[in-house]
Amino acid sequence: MRPYVILNAAMTLDGKIATQTGSSNISGREDLERVHEIRKDCDAIMVGIGTVLADDPRLTVHKIDAKPEDNPVRVVVDSKCRTPVDARITNGDAKTIIAGANEYKWDFKESDKYKTLTDKGVKFYFSGDKRVDLKALMSYLHEEGIEKLMLEGGSTLNFSMIKAGLIDEISICIAPMVVGGVNAKTFFDGDGFDLMDEAVRLELTDSYSLGKDLILHYKVLND
Ligand SMILES: NC(=O)c1ccc[n+]([C@@H]2O[C@H](COP(=O)([O-])OP(=O)(O)OC[C@H]3O[C@@H](n4cnc5c(N)ncnc54)[C@H](OP(=O)(O)O)[C@@H]3O)[C@@H](O)[C@H]2O)c1
Repeated sequence: MRPYVILNAAMTLDGKIATQTGSSNISGREDLERVHEIRKDCDAIMVGIGTVLADDPRLTVHKIDAKPEDNPVRVVVDSKCRTPVDARITNGDAKTIIAGANEYKWDFKESDKYKTLTDKGVKFYFSGDKRVDLKALMSYLHEEGIEKLMLEGGSTLNFSMIKAGLIDEISICIAPMVVGGVNAKTFFDGDGFDLMDEAVRLELTDSYSLGKDLILHYKVLND
């Protein structure tokens, strides 16, 4: 058993979710409110360590009316436990789980950083050898009571999650902007597939304008 997973992101028309220097301010105000409504409706929000290091996000519900208990559990996929002790995701606004990989577990558990983070209330879950085993993580989160999870990037984690068949729904905000840049992160990066035949298939379920942006919803056709 695993949580129902909704991937949400904002991208430019050319598919970039950040510029090559890491700037990622893409959504309009209306879209940010839409995103925070989804956050409020989910039991957990998950990001990769690349996103924590680039953006230092809070991952709380704060763009709409919300109570502290509306904040979902925050999950960072972070094999080597590189999450900084002062990252905003480790503040007391919501529960936080750092998902690490087994190879780094014992050294990390002996570190001052582990003690500082556990003293702050951060929990840890270890799976996989050198990289987090995403299927094992999903099943652990489900056992912890997470039924609906919002995946909020970035590009590398998005690809691993969809390749593993762990995403059920995608909602994407397309902003009327073009930034280019061969090194700018796209919606899905990772290793990619070699053949179009291997592509993960989607079904468009909704589309509408929101302010200046276009919102598309897809169901992922996992077999
Ligand atoms: N516009 C948007 O909606 C949006 C949303 C989110 C992020 N972003 C942007 O996306 C960028 C970050 O993307 P990113 O690709 O660099 O990083 P990321 O996807 O956030 O994190 C990737 C990292 O997760 C770790 N990881 C551990 N196990 C993994 C697994 N099984 N599969 C995949 N990753 C695993 C790896 O590092 P370790 O091996 O060290 O653990 C990997 O490098 C930032 O620029 C951010 O601004 C944009």
